[in-house]
Amino acid sequence: MKNLVVLSGAGISAESGIKTFRDSNGLWEEYRVEDVASIEGWYKNKELVIEFYNKRRRELEKTSPNEAHKSIAALEKDYHVTVITQNIDDLHERAGSTEIIHLHGELTKARSVKNDEKTYDIGYNDIHPGDTAPDGDQLRPHVVWFGESVPELQRAAQAVGKADIFLIIGTSLNVYPAAGLIHYTRPGCRIYLIDPQPFRLNLENFTQIQEKATVGMKKLMEYLTES
Ligand code: OAD
Repeated sequence: MKNLVVLSGAGISAESGIKTFRDSNGLWEEYRVEDVASIEGWYKNKELVIEFYNKRRRELEKTSPNEAHKSIAALEKDYHVTVITQNIDDLHERAGSTEIIHLHGELTKARSVKNDEKTYDIGYNDIHPGDTAPDGDQLRPHVVWFGESVPELQRAAQAVGKADIFLIIGTSLNVYPAAGLIHYTRPGCRIYLIDPQPFRLNLENFTQIQEKATVGMKKLMEYLTES
């Protein structure tokens, strides 16, 4: 089976009703990124950070995967699929994908401030200031904030390095190191990008499908069937 690797971002979940970050009306117009997605923000105002992610978790519980998440899961019939996602939602899991690397963490998990290796499933429940992990330290969202290392990066880069087909979907490619994963593709790897915004990437074997995720995935399925 060929290896198909997906790099997804907030845009894939937009049609499920989850806001992206940098589009107009996106989350970074409503919040300052350094307040809610940085370790400095955490030490400045934990309550604000905890509430920001509690809101995201409550929204997530009410939403569902869309046809784009489901199409990616369905590709497992014909390909060995690895999904690398920058999203902290669980919509790829709920759509049925089985191999998922969460580069930026997961909303449904928490960890203690001291220990980033042990995570705790919290489902869609809130975290409260004062909630502690078994090591006695405050629980924090299991999210990679700006300025923190990305522990899953190496695993992601290895997967991209083995890809026969690399699909980028719903990401502005603004945030590194995720955006740099494209450079780990090997010669001959076919690269598709699905996004309603035009991208100019000077890469070999590159095709943009300039559509929203659900429509773009239908077109991609047609391309893959033809080839
Ligand atoms: P962005 O908000 O930067 O980019 C969203 C992308 O989705 C844009 O390119 C949009 O054009 C596209 N888009 C919008 N609607 C779409 C749709 N219906 N179908 C397909 N694409 C659509 O989000 P990310 O690239 O995911 O990190 O952002 C990367 C990281 O920045 C996030 O993981 C988050 C954020 O700060 C952290 O918080 C650590």
